[in-house]
Amino acid sequence: MFSKTIERLNRPASMRIASLAKKLKAGGHDILDLTLGQPDLPVHYNIIESVHECLLSGKTGYTESQGILELREQISVYESEKWGYPISADQVLVSPGGKQAIYYALRTLVNPLDEVIIIEPCWLSYKELIEMVGGKAVILNTDPNKNFVVSIHEILAKITSKTKAIILNVPNNPTGSIYPSDTIKMLIRYSAAHQIFLIFDNIYDEIIFDDEKIEYSLEPLQCEKLIIVNGFSKSFSMTGFRVGYVISHEIIMEQMIKVHEQLATCTSIVSQYAALAALRIEKSYLEKRKEVFERRRDFVVNRCRELNIDLIVPQGGIYCLIDTRSINSSSVVAAEKILQHALVAVIPGVVYGISSEGYVRISLVGDEAILEEALKRISDLMELTL
Ligand SMILES: Cc1ncc(COP(=O)(O)O)c(C=O)c1O
Repeated sequence: MFSKTIERLNRPASMRIASLAKKLKAGGHDILDLTLGQPDLPVHYNIIESVHECLLSGKTGYTESQGILELREQISVYESEKWGYPISADQVLVSPGGKQAIYYALRTLVNPLDEVIIIEPCWLSYKELIEMVGGKAVILNTDPNKNFVVSIHEILAKITSKTKAIILNVPNNPTGSIYPSDTIKMLIRYSAAHQIFLIFDNIYDEIIFDDEKIEYSLEPLQCEKLIIVNGFSKSFSMTGFRVGYVISHEIIMEQMIKVHEQLATCTSIVSQYAALAALRIEKSYLEKRKEVFERRRDFVVNRCRELNIDLIVPQGGIYCLIDTRSINSSSVVAAEKILQHALVAVIPGVVYGISSEGYVRISLVGDEAILEEALKRISDLMELTL
């Protein structure tokens, strides 16, 4: 009766577990919810004020489909600086969230049964979005002992005549791993030289720890196959604003705009002005936010070591994978037990791919007191099950 493609899709497991946790909470249980990828730091006052200003000045209508010029210009300055390469406002499309930006890219590139390589563990929407556009997700598994990072050769070994694109997410959700700049550069160079697009999901790029810097450097021809996705959800806590963007060569952009125009017409005007206000906040603001997550990361790493909980030390992002094999080898069972007995909501690692089976993902979105209590409860449960 329904579309087979849509019937086959899975609802995001993270949302399912979060809503179960909410129900338990509503039933009076003292649940610590570490499931959602939503930074708890408040939205900056300038962003809130920009919403008032936008509405009070009568800006309530459609905007230019690609996004208001002022915002695209601001994004182009911000991204050009990062990439060390001039990116023009014409190469920017403002989308209703980063998720939709990835969909636009895939919808534009993928023909039925084209292959798109994803490196697991990875954000669970990639696979579903690829399938939604009729493509086939080709999965590259990774090894926890190597921080879930693969070499360029392992990525290239997955390429076939049907490969249309590769998706790379740095820092990665859920592992927090980052890729060496050389691997990224080689991948960009490879995709430029072949008919393979690189979708580079940079949504957590303002949250990289230990003073690590990813050096991007682009040369003119290298941009033809590169599609950069980013947004405001994680860097500025603007999840509910639903605003992100995609950057590509003009030739791809021409096609992507068609998808966006038919699906959204434009991104909400209020969210676009809010995003503009976000990019005008002084740079040190993002640095301070990163420091909060880095402090929490350090706290979790230290406490896990003290409590004998194994974990993968994240190099960025807002998540951390902890090893729950001592509770159960299945991360789904372990997450259920953790929810039922420790009253902590976490996400089973296996939903991000088989490579992270045996781990659960906790989000670093509570203060240290919450993280302390959650780790203590998980550790008590681990001791009980030993
Ligand atoms: C890796 C990754 N990419 C993209 C997104 C999309 O974010 P949004 O649609 O809120 O901009 C998320 C959200 O969790 C994510 O984890």
